[in-house]
Amino acid sequence: MRNRSVLALAVLIFITLTQAAGAEADREKLLKDPGVYATFAVFKVGDQWAQMEKEARASSVGEVKKVFEKHADKVAVDTYLLRGLSERADFFIRVHSKEMLDNQNFLVDFMGTTFGKNLKNTDTFNGITKALNYVPKFPEDLKTELKTPPPQGSPYVVVVPIRKDAEWWLMPQDARTTLMKEHTDATVIYLKTVKRKLYHSSGLDDLDFITYFETAKLDDFNNLVTALLQVKENRHNKRFGEPTLLGTLRSLDEILEILSH
Ligand code: HEM
Repeated sequence: MRNRSVLALAVLIFITLTQAAGAEADREKLLKDPGVYATFAVFKVGDQWAQMEKEARASSVGEVKKVFEKHADKVAVDTYLLRGLSERADFFIRVHSKEMLDNQNFLVDFMGTTFGKNLKNTDTFNGITKALNYVPKFPEDLKTELKTPPPQGSPYVVVVPIRKDAEWWLMPQDARTTLMKEHTDATVIYLKTVKRKLYHSSGLDDLDFITYFETAKLDDFNNLVTALLQVKENRHNKRFGEPTLLGTLRSLDEILEILSH
């Protein structure tokens, strides 16, 4: 009898661990694979939220957490605090999934909560991750440098939406590769302190790219962007930022706690 209980417990632990590992693996895949859809939704908390009864705010926080749990099998979600570093918005959410529809369903549910109804959605950017366009044609030593492991656990996040000019897109691929090599030469020294991710947005938004960075060293990030403003490729950036989002990576609980004061 005792053996049976031990066996049942072992099976239960195994199932729980497997499920946890499955969910984790999915998130890692969504953050790594090409062909993944991303939505960045930026919000400002309305004045009415602060005027609500404390209990009503607390119950809506529970409602928000349930929405995150409900969609957890389809979307990988990250949350960032902007308040204090931006007058335009208080926080933003980055959503990844295999279908844009899943991003939309999650955000519609989130915006339907009492908390969501008290938010102003100031900006939304949509994009998709893709295989590398230019790196395959780079020299081997540069390709090796690009394999430098990125920093982990950085507190700061910067998002810069970018639109290129028509001349950029009309240029032959080889000419663009030459300019992107110059871009990369100017940036590789920052690989150790800046983690980056690129989203392609042409046709999915009024942008061509959403560039996303995590770092602990904003001084390095400032030098990195200054270096990029000095390469020829920058002549083709019709829009750079506007808005640039500078925030800190925070858990959902922390953001809800800060915004519920
Ligand atoms: C550690 C710093 C950085 C490194 C190592 C880096 C490297 C690269 C590389 C290798 C590519 C080509 C990807 C491909 O083959 O498709 C690329 C593309 C791009 N990078 Fe950077 N980059 C850095 C920072 C930045 C910053 C700070 C910005 C702007 C805020 C930026 C904007 C872009 C854009 C818009 C593209 C896409 C260009 C296109 O496909 O036409 N990068 N970057």
